[in-house]
Amino acid sequence: MGKNLSLVTSSLLLLLASTSVGRVFDVKSYGGQPNADITQALMKAWKAACTIAGSKVVISVGTYKLGSVTLLGPCKGAIEFNLQGTLQAPSDVASFNGKDFWVSFQRIDSLTVSGGGVFDGKGQMAWQKNDCGEKYNNKILPTNIKFDFVTNSIVHDIQSKDSKFFHINLLGCKNLQIQHVTVTAPEDSPNTEGIHIGRSSKITITNANIGTGDDCISIGDGTQDVTANQVTCGPGHGINVGSLGKYQNEQPVSGIRVIGGTLSNTKNGVRIKTWPSSPPGIASDMHFENIIMNNVANPILIDQDYCPNNQCANQSPSKVKISNVSFKNIRGTSSTKEAVKLICSNIVPCQEVVVVDIDLIYKGAGGSATSTCVNVKPTITGKQNPPACTIKQ
Ligand SMILES: *[C@@H]1O[C@H](CO)[C@@H](O)[C@H](O)[C@H]1NC(C)=O
Repeated sequence: MGKNLSLVTSSLLLLLASTSVGRVFDVKSYGGQPNADITQALMKAWKAACTIAGSKVVISVGTYKLGSVTLLGPCKGAIEFNLQGTLQAPSDVASFNGKDFWVSFQRIDSLTVSGGGVFDGKGQMAWQKNDCGEKYNNKILPTNIKFDFVTNSIVHDIQSKDSKFFHINLLGCKNLQIQHVTVTAPEDSPNTEGIHIGRSSKITITNANIGTGDDCISIGDGTQDVTANQVTCGPGHGINVGSLGKYQNEQPVSGIRVIGGTLSNTKNGVRIKTWPSSPPGIASDMHFENIIMNNVANPILIDQDYCPNNQCANQSPSKVKISNVSFKNIRGTSSTKEAVKLICSNIVPCQEVVVVDIDLIYKGAGGSATSTCVNVKPTITGKQNPPACTIKQ
């Protein structure tokens, strides 16, 4: 009897020891079932997990409906969000009650998001109503996954699909790794940016595969130290720094490295864009190298005269100063003649621009590829196809 009791006691203790650290919080234990709405179950599982260091919220294989949720920290310690199944957002924007996100991770340190699962934003209905263009800024449409003030964290092996708006948005994040993430949305879906990074630092994106109707990766103001390694983009609008200079008090962008990777059938390759008539700003230390372009319009582009839909009040030049930029070993095919375009501002010309080993072929009508340089005198070395700066202004 005494022996049995102590056995029970010791196994209980063992159980307690094994559950107090690294405990699993399966949404099923909170009433979350496949093919049903798991919003409440997920919130409860998250709340419980967040009070214990090293815990894991699990959504196992299956399809689940989920409303807009905020997964809020700070938590007791490291926490994992393990999505193996598919989450489906509501189709209608009205049910988001004006929220600009579907799933929001906020103020969390040491977060892991993983599991191979899918965030399906069900964007089809919202895209039809999003006439973008000038009205773009008046619309509040939900981003699929938002990371706000998330630090020392990793997001890997997840998929974001058919978001109503941006797919993944980082704001105020520091030391965040994104690995093996897949983003898919149709080429004609408006504003479905793959990954947008704003006011963040020490961000790495590795082996992502992003096909959308808008930017593959975009980098907004106040962002430092971003490395995008071996990212595959297309369709979409390519890898963009900017647009910068639209608002007052934008913070500098610096330390951007895009290394390796392939862009296919995108509207731009690697681009830095700033608005005309902008307040002063700084974008520096931006490097693009070893990149393959397949049938890309504007493979290499600095555009300081960015003004879609003629929405600029007047056309005075941009005051965002661009410096220390390199384009190295960029090869492949351009779908337009304008393979290289470096259009800088005439009040703050681009400085320290380096162009090395470019081989971009245009096979269409109207002659071979061109390279335009405006308000910039790049340092040119290695192979240059098209010949560098053949068009100057
Ligand atoms: C230019 O970029 C290089 C490479 O990232 C960096 O080491 C250097 O400090 C930068 N120079 C300036 C003046 O910002």
